[in-house]
Amino acid sequence: MAKFEPNVVAIACDWCSLQAGDFVGITRLFFPKKVSFVRVPCSGTVSPELLSEAFLKLSDGVLVMGCATGSCNYLTGNFQAERVAKAFREALSQIGVEPNRLELHLESDTEITVVYEAFVERIRKLGPLAPKDQLKRRQLKELLESCRDALLNPDIRWLVAREWTLVTRENVFGETVDPAEYDRTLRERITEELLMARIKQQVAADPLSAREIAERLGRSPRDVFGALVELRKRAAVTMVEAAGRDPRYLAA
Ligand code: FES
Repeated sequence: MAKFEPNVVAIACDWCSLQAGDFVGITRLFFPKKVSFVRVPCSGTVSPELLSEAFLKLSDGVLVMGCATGSCNYLTGNFQAERVAKAFREALSQIGVEPNRLELHLESDTEITVVYEAFVERIRKLGPLAPKDQLKRRQLKELLESCRDALLNPDIRWLVAREWTLVTRENVFGETVDPAEYDRTLRERITEELLMARIKQQVAADPLSAREIAERLGRSPRDVFGALVELRKRAAVTMVEAAGRDPRYLAA
């Protein structure tokens, strides 16, 4: 059987990793196949949308490369990349995708081929991201879309952007947020937003009751009902009809 060759996307900061990549090209060093480059001005510009796009194209792994800690040309870009990667990995893990398919490498090294080869090898061991079965593939894409939508929620964006300030800077009462508490809050908010994103997908075309949505998603009707209340507050779903005694909901 032919060896599995993973499709890997490398998102590289223009100031360090990309130049190292150019050096590899100029000197004609060996480079792993099936690595597509995306050039960014700084790893801090890597957004959940960009990461989702790479996974939605069913890349088996995504490697984000930025300048070494303390060397970012925009001062804090690579810290921001760390926080976005952490939230994205959490969301991947919650939808059942191995979080190590996303890696952040912050080092302005010229040994870039070693980094690529090690990453490709790790992804090769994990196997392909996408199942062969078309239905399962579609389900995976829906899960990845929910991941993107959850991480675009303004509260989560705020939490991700403010992590450093929240856990290190004292507020007016002289308190900081305990890092473990921060992680727990982020994890819970991602869980809530993922459920709401999944519900919106279910009611995008046809109205469904809370019970029907719960059955489709394998969740408790109570959780689904709570999420529907929040979605109605946001005007993201409307109540359109009753199925027996149960109201039905449709995406707005
Ligand atoms: Fe390279 Fe910011 S400029 S990570």
